[in-house]
Amino acid sequence: MGRENFGSKIGAVLAAAGSAVGLGNIWRFPIETAENGGAAFIVVYIMCIAVLGLPIMISEFMIGRYTHSNTAAAYRILSNGSPWKWVGRLGVFIGWFIMCYYVVVGAWTMHYAFLSATNAFHEVSAKEYGSIFDNFVQDPWIPTLWLLVFIGIIHCVITRGVRSGIEKSSKLMMPTLFVITVALAICSVSLPGASKGIEFLLQPDWSKVDSSVVLNAMGQAFYSLSLGMGCLCTYASYFDKNTPLAKSALNVSFIDSTIAIMAGFIIFPSIFNIGMNPTEIGAGAGLTFVSLPNVFQQALGGGSLLAVIFSTLFYFLLFFAAITSAISLHEVATAYVTEEFSLSRKKGAALVTLSVLVLGTVCSLSFGPLSGITLFDRNIFSLFDDFSGRILLPISGFLISIFAGWVLDRKLYHAEVTNGGKLKAPYFRVLVFALCYLAPIAIGLVFLDQIGVFDTIMALF
Ligand code: PHE
Repeated sequence: MGRENFGSKIGAVLAAAGSAVGLGNIWRFPIETAENGGAAFIVVYIMCIAVLGLPIMISEFMIGRYTHSNTAAAYRILSNGSPWKWVGRLGVFIGWFIMCYYVVVGAWTMHYAFLSATNAFHEVSAKEYGSIFDNFVQDPWIPTLWLLVFIGIIHCVITRGVRSGIEKSSKLMMPTLFVITVALAICSVSLPGASKGIEFLLQPDWSKVDSSVVLNAMGQAFYSLSLGMGCLCTYASYFDKNTPLAKSALNVSFIDSTIAIMAGFIIFPSIFNIGMNPTEIGAGAGLTFVSLPNVFQQALGGGSLLAVIFSTLFYFLLFFAAITSAISLHEVATAYVTEEFSLSRKKGAALVTLSVLVLGTVCSLSFGPLSGITLFDRNIFSLFDDFSGRILLPISGFLISIFAGWVLDRKLYHAEVTNGGKLKAPYFRVLVFALCYLAPIAIGLVFLDQIGVFDTIMALF
């Protein structure tokens, strides 16, 4: 059976943007911005996207589209029997590994959308949100049931195929996500006292930008663009020959950064509206599931219709962001198993789904019944998160940039980014320079930082 392609350029871009826009945009980027110098951080972040993100994204697109294969096969084809073929397999493995814990949080967003929609927060006092969340994640059943639903939806999309599943759902969910983001941001910035939040977010404070902030920005750019784990390479294998690679990469990065910045406009004005100290709100799960439900109730009137609508839409936003990313992770593994083991798409997808169900459930239960299983003081969920994000991802990013810069045939690369000479690529030399030197050095530094090398060195002095 022939391989499917995306039906349109816009469909291709929206699918890739669906992968990129995820939880990282909403629960990490705004906080990083607020803590690391506001607009100054945004400038640094955009520079990281330009220097590091775009070159690697274009390379992943190129590798995928040229080979029209799953990520493992793509690197195998291009590495002519050398050990570089392992980079593709590593990408597939990381994608699958990340998916196993990412789906757990996706399931939480559904539960919180449900709680918001049923006005479950209307009589909750500020102090109770922490224990509501703890009780929920520790429960052996409820998170697992939501997990089943979340993975079930992903499975349905994936089994429908590339065009009727992934492309169609992205064309539906990404515009919806965008509209929700804009609506929530407008609502939040029109609250009394919101201007202080906007100021807090946007005032550039260059004194905060030091080397560790730059490293943070690089790590965030990398994760946020879904680089290094075969997602973009796999999606690009469904691009047709006329899809402009560099322009698509630019569009995806633009959409991703815009949503991330707008997420800040949803969160901070409401926080300032209720007079809360932005340094107390936490990040990640604590921010999303403990601080924010409280902030929304207080800012919009506890139990009011506006609070219900706002809070429900916010968790829907998170849900859409999480599920489009999770679908892209699933596709990496599905394309791999179906093509490498000559299985039907149905069987391949079922195998992947089954594995994610098992490991996802283990990750989910690691907050409750399995919380006793720890290593380095971390439960299973955090081990998956840290190991993939801090260790595997930078290693894979480093190898991809070296592969694209030093190993890939440059003429072939040029032919691909120009679509066989049809497009101009005045940026090509800069791209090659970034791939050969800037990206490997930058990612190498991020990796050393993530594993704590710089902290250890600093501690010696
Ligand atoms: N880019 C996603 C985010 O910002 C995370 C992700 C990484 C999704 C890898 C898919 C693949 O949350």
